[in-house]
Amino acid sequence: MSKNKLSSLKVLFVAAEAYPYASVGGVGMVMYSLPKALRKIGVDARVFIPKYALIDEEKFPLKTIHQGLEVPTGDSKTPELICNVKFFQSPDSAPVYFLENQEYYEKRANVYGYSDDPTRFALLSRGVLEFLKESEWKPDVINCSDWQTGFLPNFLKTVYKNEPVVSNIKTVFSIHSLYHQGMFDHHFISEMDFDDGKSPIAPFFSKRLNKQNFMKRGIIYSDKITVVSETYAREILTEEYGERLNELLRELRTKITGIINGLDYQSFNPATDKNIVSNYNYGNLKKRLPNKIHLQKEFNLEVNENIPLIGMVGRLDEQKGIDLLFPILEMLIREFSVEFVIIGGGSAKYRSFFEDLSRRYPKNIGCHLTPDFTLPRHVFSGSDIFLVPSKFEPCGITQMEAMRYGSIPVVRKTGGLADTVSNFSLESNNGTGFVFERFDSYSCLGAIVRALENFKYKESWRKLIQRAMMQDFSWEASAKKYSRLYEKLVSLSSVNSLMEF
Ligand code: GLC
Repeated sequence: MSKNKLSSLKVLFVAAEAYPYASVGGVGMVMYSLPKALRKIGVDARVFIPKYALIDEEKFPLKTIHQGLEVPTGDSKTPELICNVKFFQSPDSAPVYFLENQEYYEKRANVYGYSDDPTRFALLSRGVLEFLKESEWKPDVINCSDWQTGFLPNFLKTVYKNEPVVSNIKTVFSIHSLYHQGMFDHHFISEMDFDDGKSPIAPFFSKRLNKQNFMKRGIIYSDKITVVSETYAREILTEEYGERLNELLRELRTKITGIINGLDYQSFNPATDKNIVSNYNYGNLKKRLPNKIHLQKEFNLEVNENIPLIGMVGRLDEQKGIDLLFPILEMLIREFSVEFVIIGGGSAKYRSFFEDLSRRYPKNIGCHLTPDFTLPRHVFSGSDIFLVPSKFEPCGITQMEAMRYGSIPVVRKTGGLADTVSNFSLESNNGTGFVFERFDSYSCLGAIVRALENFKYKESWRKLIQRAMMQDFSWEASAKKYSRLYEKLVSLSSVNSLMEF
């Protein structure tokens, strides 16, 4: 595809978060690196998020480009909410628009977790469309992400379908996780509250809004759906992973494409990373060792390069498969003398499990149970084995980060983990990690023990590290897939409009 053809393509990413302005999880990282990678191949990609109080305007000087934007609410008492739109031209990534509103964003310290989140994110979806009606720059495609933006395609195909300036815009809805579909628990819905996805969007302040299934509506009304790995794109068609939307997704399967997320190779590079004590690449792995020693010291573990060190980084919740470790971690410490370091915030049940173990085995277990920016890099560069035993994992990024830094992943064969880690085989000298299939502690233990046994054979382990480090998880290939999908969508629509003419 020629660069010229792509340079005419304009794409707006709408999401609840974007790194480095306001970033909580994986979606925020994707909102930084995917638009950046698309811009490199000539797509005019931009981003649109709310202007939360936590966004540091001293660090990011924002320019107000639209004042007094009136966003209709559908409510007769307060028919409009007044917003401003601010803009920031990032020096190293895509330009970003921010929707400013005192009550719903400015007064809130956090990105998520408020009882009126449905109102806050309905406002985002409609605010974007109102802004685009006025703005000179208009995208060919709007790429939404997860439930928070599910109303945007719904508004566009209904309320805005006769608005000449925006109604031609195509929409892509990206599923990063089906697990959250709105503010309610979709597993427990009475028949009366069931949202078929087709009724009009409720007024912003009505209780009904909180019961409407934003995720389902994004799926129904968007022109295309992307899912963050090929395996998860297949898994969500099944009852096990489909979160009660599997039937609908099966019906719409022709508009679904799985595209794996990438890793920002500039930021995650052991050869240049300033956050680690010793830089290295796959050609000089000896220089990796000081990072292990440093990690052992940092967590007061026994300092010894021959003790296998297992690392884990991430949110401590049910998705991440921590329950599988309950019956086996203590046994691993006692029988195999392993060391274990975990970084991540989350629920009390998991925190107290690790805290209790680290009290009893202070030389073997290190934990830092709040999210942190630098410590994960110490774990990627200092651990030998990296554990991701997730129950489900739409894409997952830590396994790619770990491989990039030469820590060998032990993963469950699901979602993006299945697509990025291949099982080690000594005979054929291939594979990049240790993979298990069933979600149970025995299967997980089996894979960990295989890793521990192989760790003893230094030469084949060194080759395994090199293979893992040489994998290409850069965004380039995936960005090309996205741009092809946008191109197709836009060219299809011009053929259709010619036919209509
Ligand atoms: C969600 C998923 C995770 C994925 C991320 C970015 O957080 O749980 O697997 O990597 O989104 O797409």
